[in-house]
Amino acid sequence: MHIEDRIFRQKEAIEQELQRILSSQDSPLFQAMRHAVFSGGKRFRPLLTLACGHCFGVAEETLLPFACALELIHNYSLIHDDLPAIDNDDWRRGQPSCHKAFGEDIALLAGDGLLTLAFEVMSQARPEEKLGHLKVQIIEEIGKLAGVNGLIGGQVLDITLPPATIKEEEYFELVQKKTGSLILAALQPGIILGQASPSQREAIMEYGKNVGLAFQIRDDITDFSQEDSSKATSRPNSVRLFGMKASQQKLHLLIKKALQALNQACSEGDELRFLALKLLDL
Ligand code: IPE
Ligand code: IPE
Ligand code: MG
Ligand code: MG
Repeated sequence: MHIEDRIFRQKEAIEQELQRILSSQDSPLFQAMRHAVFSGGKRFRPLLTLACGHCFGVAEETLLPFACALELIHNYSLIHDDLPAIDNDDWRRGQPSCHKAFGEDIALLAGDGLLTLAFEVMSQARPEEKLGHLKVQIIEEIGKLAGVNGLIGGQVLDITLPPATIKEEEYFELVQKKTGSLILAALQPGIILGQASPSQREAIMEYGKNVGLAFQIRDDITDFSQEDSSKATSRPNSVRLFGMKASQQKLHLLIKKALQALNQACSEGDELRFLALKLLDL
């Protein structure tokens, strides 16, 4: 099957599983959770989970609960990111953000609900018996990367570092944490269940670090290019720090480095290659 058709089919499998996970109730809380999850996200992180697993021969049905959990964590982080106390964004994916549609109280709890559900879903994953013990290791790694030294720590840096005077190394640390962490988290199920060798693990992590930085620089370029660039000036932003041309060059260089690392990791990396190259379509 052609790579684009394969990725499309994988995205459909992710959508179907997310629908199943979030269809158990119809309370305002669940409506708010579904509003956040089903509003046109690209599903980049769950697709990475499937792609990385396929690199190491892990079956899709084994990967799917982890892939969906990553998407739940991602959407919790966006609900909270949009709240008035953080980025104060009224819009997300062209629709009212969760707190605009449901109120701050329900939005806050919908974020909590998605985060907690993600860990429930991962706990219920059923890898084949001889790999069962690896599930706890995956949950530990994802917990750390989503936690105070990962995504949450990065969000703290994002709201506390001064956008006008931030230094280059501070910018990269904050981006690595706030955005890079979940990209690395998405690669963990494949690395761990696929029992990658230490050198393969290192190469995939190098791929993930470069993709994570590229992902945020791309988002910064997009935010800056939009008519209302207040988003780009009230928070640290690559274009403000380096300029547009240098940001685009950095984006290209990071993707090149990601693909170089990938070549060291596995010969079945066409899906991971495809997803990294997607970030160059602006
Ligand atoms: C947006 O992430 C937030 C960042 C980490 C830059 P995505 O660009 O993956 O958002 P969706 O889910 O596709 O809307
Ligand atoms: C989002 O960062 C990162 C997380 C939610 C952890 P941004 O604030 O830069 O993303 P957008 O532009 O709102 O999607
Ligand atoms: Mg933010
Ligand atoms: Mg934001």
